[in-house]
Amino acid sequence: MAARQENAPVHAAIIMDGNGRWAENKGISKYFGHDAGMRAMTAIVRHASDIGIQYLTVYAFSTENWKRGAEEISGIFKLLMIYVDKELDELWRNNVKVNVVGDTSEMPKDVRKYLERTVSRTAENTGLVFNICLGYGSRAEIVRAARRLAEDALAGNLAVGAIDEKALASRLYTGDMPDPDFIIRPGGEKRLSNFLLWQAAYSEFIFSDVLWPDFTPEEFDNAIMAFSARKRRFGGRS
Ligand code: FPP
Repeated sequence: MAARQENAPVHAAIIMDGNGRWAENKGISKYFGHDAGMRAMTAIVRHASDIGIQYLTVYAFSTENWKRGAEEISGIFKLLMIYVDKELDELWRNNVKVNVVGDTSEMPKDVRKYLERTVSRTAENTGLVFNICLGYGSRAEIVRAARRLAEDALAGNLAVGAIDEKALASRLYTGDMPDPDFIIRPGGEKRLSNFLLWQAAYSEFIFSDVLWPDFTPEEFDNAIMAFSARKRRFGGRS
């Protein structure tokens, strides 16, 4: 087990980008890019748990990813089922609690079944909280929270004057979690792509040109080091 690092952030988030280009560079199908991406993710989850990160949030399938071809989408779902099936025992043994963040209602029934089993089997775990964002889009998440505020207000459970940042944040999927300390985006692009728009208000951004399948635990440690060197002021002076 790796030594727990000093100044380890509490919550790390990752936009796992570059699987397609990684496969293209090798002249193989995108499926194998996502397969390699899944293996990179497995290693990072293990590592994050080993070094005492408390929350790890990964962007695995966005609301916009539904625009991709049916074959690629079903490949990602297949890999997701393989991942949770293969890793469930180890996740459980490592005290990892898996959360699904997003709207999975449009996903195939068998995928949802695998996810539900993983979430319920690890529900009582108290170690790393591993958030897998699936069918996730931050704008949709904020709209959902706004709708829940309106419902609570209409039901008489919430005064309109009591609607504040805390009230909205608590109705996001991440309601009871701290905001991410940093967000890593491998793959060369420098944008948020509808990921954690609210929660990222004061997150540090770490960009890397490495394509996600090549992203290693060492790269993750480098990101932590870069994060630790940043001065966070949260809008203040010190
Ligand atoms: C982004 O790369 C990656 C995805 C849309 C899928 C992420 C999936 C995995 C990491 C593997 C499967 C694991 C789970 C949990 C589903 P891209 O395809 O956009 O890459 P590109 O920008 O090079 O085309």
